[in-house]
Amino acid sequence: MNSPINRLFRLRNRPRGRVGEGDLEWGEEPVAEIGDGQALVRTLYLSLDPTNRVWMSRIRSYIPPVELGAVMRGLGVGQVVESRRPDLPVGAFVLGFTGWQEYCVADDSVLEIPFTVLPDPLPAPLSAFLGVLGHTGISAFIGVELGDPQPGETFVVSAAAGAVGSIAGQLAKQRGARVVGIAGGAEKCRRLVAELGFDAGVDRHSPDWREALDDVTPHGIDVDFENVGGPIMDHVLSRLNVGARVTLCGLISEYDNYNDQSDQLGLRNVNQLLMQRATLRGFIVTDHVGRYGEIIGKLATAMREGSLSYEETVVEGLENARDTLNQALSGDTRGKTIVKVASPTPVS
Ligand SMILES: NC(=O)c1ccc[n+]([C@@H]2O[C@H](COP(=O)([O-])OP(=O)(O)OC[C@H]3O[C@@H](n4cnc5c(N)ncnc54)[C@H](OP(=O)(O)O)[C@@H]3O)[C@@H](O)[C@H]2O)c1
Repeated sequence: MNSPINRLFRLRNRPRGRVGEGDLEWGEEPVAEIGDGQALVRTLYLSLDPTNRVWMSRIRSYIPPVELGAVMRGLGVGQVVESRRPDLPVGAFVLGFTGWQEYCVADDSVLEIPFTVLPDPLPAPLSAFLGVLGHTGISAFIGVELGDPQPGETFVVSAAAGAVGSIAGQLAKQRGARVVGIAGGAEKCRRLVAELGFDAGVDRHSPDWREALDDVTPHGIDVDFENVGGPIMDHVLSRLNVGARVTLCGLISEYDNYNDQSDQLGLRNVNQLLMQRATLRGFIVTDHVGRYGEIIGKLATAMREGSLSYEETVVEGLENARDTLNQALSGDTRGKTIVKVASPTPVS
């Protein structure tokens, strides 16, 4: 092995607001030795996700919080560099909970979600397995399926220029819906229409975003693919049609406040779920792990046929992960946000 040093981030404090240097501490430690039934995986790409921020808090969640002092949890693509596991041969590219570190021991003890070997040959670049062909693309697929947009219906997606929203909008468009994306900034909104085929984009930073959303949803909203919560979700609820479906994928506008729940704002227009006989359904992508293969196949086919585009923001260097996560949470990245940790090693 080239380096006996493992550089990593450990969670030292539960952040309030954005993640600070004292919350996620950067450090260097010796690389762990592997035992029987274990493999050593070198992280190549690390996924940065809004849910990382949730995992740093104490909120009751679909997954336990990251313990203080532990290596920060994170999903990554890596390469096996040493192995005492026949199912993870040296050189194989794998997907799993690498954590925010350069080397991890793969022993299947992390949340009982095992490392899986990626297909050989790869149908797409390695980074795509953290985005369009990974948990965010799969979330988009499942959320659209649950919302079930019909031809001519109006489908609204928030965080529309992000990893999930950008794919969800394209999938809804393929079903014949009228697709409206809400994103931060005029340029992101322009790209939603010009490059991803959305019917309209609404800039959430514009002072008159509510009126703008009303203007581009003249017949109300049939499906809300909800990624953000807060005032945006509240206004979308006020425009639901009879029988509308709200697919609750995420609530990013709240995540900074999960250590102090009194700071959270409530929704005022929940009454419209009642008045319009609407349904609201939350989902967590990992509940659908048995369908990953089928869904990845469909997304890969759409990509190959040119009907599905994706964008990535790739930042070099694990040491930049904390700042890049903060940028992603602030809307300063586009598409799927990823840190490139290392390059693959050629296998002879
Ligand atoms: N249920 C699941 O299994 C599952 C799986 C994956 C993701 N998710 C959730 O899906 C959502 C999107 O995830 P992602 O991976 O697509 O994230 P992402 O690519 O990082 O995009 C997140 C975007 O949210 C927007 N945003 C941030 N703060 C906001 C606020 N206060 N109000 C409105 N918009 C805000 C920003 O875009 P703009 O500035 O352009 O608006 C930001 O770029 C998140 O809530 C995430 O937790 C859920």
